[in-house]
This record gives sequence, structure tokens and C-alpha cells, in this order.
Amino acid sequence: MNFENSLRFAKKLDKTDPLKSFRQKFHLPKIGGKRTLYFTGNSLGLQPKSTRSFLNQELSDWAALGVEGHLHAKHPWLYYHKFSKKTLAGLVGAKPLEVVAMNQLTVNLHLMMTSFYQPTPTRFKILTEAGAFSSDQYAFEAQLKIHNINPEEGLIELNPRHGEHTLRTEDILNAIEKHSDQLALVIFGAVQYYSGQFFNIKAITEAGHRAGAHVGFDLAHAIGNVPLSLHKHEVDFAVWCSYKYLNAGPGGIAGAFVHEKHANNTNLVRLAGWWGHHEKDRFQMKKGFIAMPGADGWQVSNFPILSGAAQLASLQLFEEAGIKNLRKKSVLLTGFLEFLLKSIEKNSEYFIIITNSNADERGCQLSILMRKDGKKVFTSLTKAGVLADWREPNVIRVAPVPLYNTFEEVFQFVEIFRRSISTTKASDRSKRSDA
Ligand SMILES: Cc1ncc(COP(=O)(O)O)c(C=O)c1O
Repeated sequence: MNFENSLRFAKKLDKTDPLKSFRQKFHLPKIGGKRTLYFTGNSLGLQPKSTRSFLNQELSDWAALGVEGHLHAKHPWLYYHKFSKKTLAGLVGAKPLEVVAMNQLTVNLHLMMTSFYQPTPTRFKILTEAGAFSSDQYAFEAQLKIHNINPEEGLIELNPRHGEHTLRTEDILNAIEKHSDQLALVIFGAVQYYSGQFFNIKAITEAGHRAGAHVGFDLAHAIGNVPLSLHKHEVDFAVWCSYKYLNAGPGGIAGAFVHEKHANNTNLVRLAGWWGHHEKDRFQMKKGFIAMPGADGWQVSNFPILSGAAQLASLQLFEEAGIKNLRKKSVLLTGFLEFLLKSIEKNSEYFIIITNSNADERGCQLSILMRKDGKKVFTSLTKAGVLADWREPNVIRVAPVPLYNTFEEVFQFVEIFRRSISTTKASDRSKRSDA
């Protein structure tokens, strides 16, 4: 699309947006009584207005039925993990058997790594992107230590080339091939939390498998943001959280994907618990764990109903909107943001966009690397009512979310960003002349 740098054009895009009605279905935050420009759906998604009634249903059933709610609630609690399967499967490109909502992301990462990271004396290395999210780094380190492997030796972290900010797919594939004799696991954040890069899941998975390793992905920034095809691409496992693009609320229930080819593999070591045990005799309380088929067999504890209810509210909106339609809008929305930022980026001593410029290699987030006065500009944005986020050491992440952000908001954001830089520049200049 040929974008134009004008408010009139932004309004025109909003008017013709087929998904525009979805914004009304969310609570839009106000700070100090003033509506914010909310661009942090990559950190905490907004609350659907329907969430309260989903929660109220379970609170009412709990009040009315007590323990009987397990079988007789409107949505019987015993089977609650099943109610989100269809939509979650659609979002990650999986069969319902392959997905389950459970726990939190890092817990699921440990559960998956317990099964899919089984090093041998010769094949023991984990290959990942450098600068992975801290919690993932801690999990990798811990898993290596569990197997008495020095993390310095066991972890291969890939850095972008000198002067570049994102990884080239060819470099990832070459590294996998280079270390193929020693690799036990290849694992990437599907959409990198800092740079916003959307990695090539298909190519990485194929290369990892050619090398003889298992391949997994952290989908924290990918699920609900970009369409995925985990089953087709034969990814072994994936984990995600639901408080970002899935709008399931702070600390919302996470999830996991295990490929169908592992569905009945009882040889895989796992950290078992009663909710993963075969449903038909779970309450027999007998010795001897028998895993449920598919991802359900990795469940450990019983399901957190209130958290799951909040997730169902948002998943219903994804069903209505459709991830492909959302992605179509998202490409436009982020493309517009990039176009406007580029109009002020030229020769800017203040910032560059480090997220890939090819829409296929990013989700909705753009990461703006501040070369100068980053914190000052960020503070000025916040004062002007923009909720974006700051990631150390010097990145402002901006995520226009197609379910609730508008083209007009993107236009307003870039205007405020431009003004914040000008004000910072002017105050720097006056300080220098005072000195
Ligand atoms: C990429 C990534 N991985 C892991 C986590 C940690 O998630 P949790 O607290 O659910 O374990 C986050 C949290 O924001 C994340 O962004």
C-alpha cells in the first residue's frame, strides 16, 4: 500500500478497517482521567469487556455448587482445559491433541526440556539466539546443570553479524549445520522479545532435525500475533504465555504444544502429575503413571479455572476476528508505523528501527533503538500519555495490536515521538550553551 503521512489518511484507514468494531470490545486504559495511547499489548494485553462475565459464571457456579462444580458447573471444571483447545490449536497451527493450556511459560519450558533435552556425552549442546528472554536463559542454564553440563560449554548463543541487529536465517542454518554432531536441542523465541524478529520456524526446524536435534520455540511474542503452523513444520514442542497478545490477564494461564508424533511416546521422560494421568482412572489414586495421549499427558496439576475463564473470553474474540484477518490488519498497521517513523528517521542521530523491514520477518512490534537520550525521550512519551515500553539497555518497543489499536493512534504516536525528540534536542542544546 502507498501510505500517506497525514491524519486524514490514518482516519481513512480506520474507516475502512473491517476489524474496527473489535476495539469497542476492550477496556481502554485511562491514566489521570486521560485516554492513553496503549502500545504495550506485547507486555500485557488489554481486558476484553466480556472477561468479567466469563469470570462471574465460574464464581457463581462455585458459590452455588461448591465442589459439585467439577462436574455440574455450566463449564464443568474437570474438563476445563479442553474448552480452549480448538482456538489455541488454530492460533498455533496444530491439532487439538497437540495443545494444552497449563501453568506459566517458564514452568512449561522446564517440563518440555525435561522431555526433549536428553543429552548424551557427545550430543549435549543447546543452540539458541543470544539475548534470549532472561527466564529462558535461566531455564537453559538450570537444565544444563541438572545434567552436570557446564553452561559455558553446553550453550551456543548466536549473535547477529557485526553492525547488524537481527540474525540472518542463513547464519542460523549454517551454525546448526556446523554444530550438528553435538546438538541435542535447538530452541528460539519465535518472535524475539527485544528485536521483534520473527524467525523462520520452518527452516530452523528442518535444519535442527537434519542435525539430529529436537527443536522447540518460545511463542510468548508470537501466539496471537502471527499465524503459526507448528504441526505442518514438525516443530517438536513450543510454549507460550497468554497475558500478552492473548489478553488473558496478568499472570494468565500459559500453554504448550507437543507434536502429534510424540503424542503416545511413553519413553519420553516427564515430570508427571495426576492431571496428566489417564482421565478415566485419575481418581483411582493408584500407583503407576499412565500418560494421557498428546499434550494433555504433560499436565501436572489441576486446572486454574478463574485464569482459564479469563482466557476463554479473549479466545472467543480471536475466533470471531480470525488470526489471518488480524495478521492482514497488523501488517498494515505496523507498516504504517514504520513508514511514519522512517520519515523522521533519516539521518537521525537519535534512533534507528532495528526490527526487520520485511513484514514476513516480524510481528506487530517495532523496536526503536535509541542512540541518544533514550530514557529522556521515553519519559517524555510517557508524560504525553503514551504507554510503550523500555527494554534495557536502549530500546523502546512499540506494538500496535490489530484487535484494539487504530491507524490514528499510530499517527498520533509518531507525532508525539517526533516532538519528544525535538524537545530533548532543544533542552540538550540549551544545556550546552549554558555550560
Ligand atoms: C519471551 C518470554 N519468555 C518467557 C517469559 C516468562 O514468562 P512466565 O513468567 O510466564 O514464565 C516472558 C515474559 O514476558 C517472555 O517474554
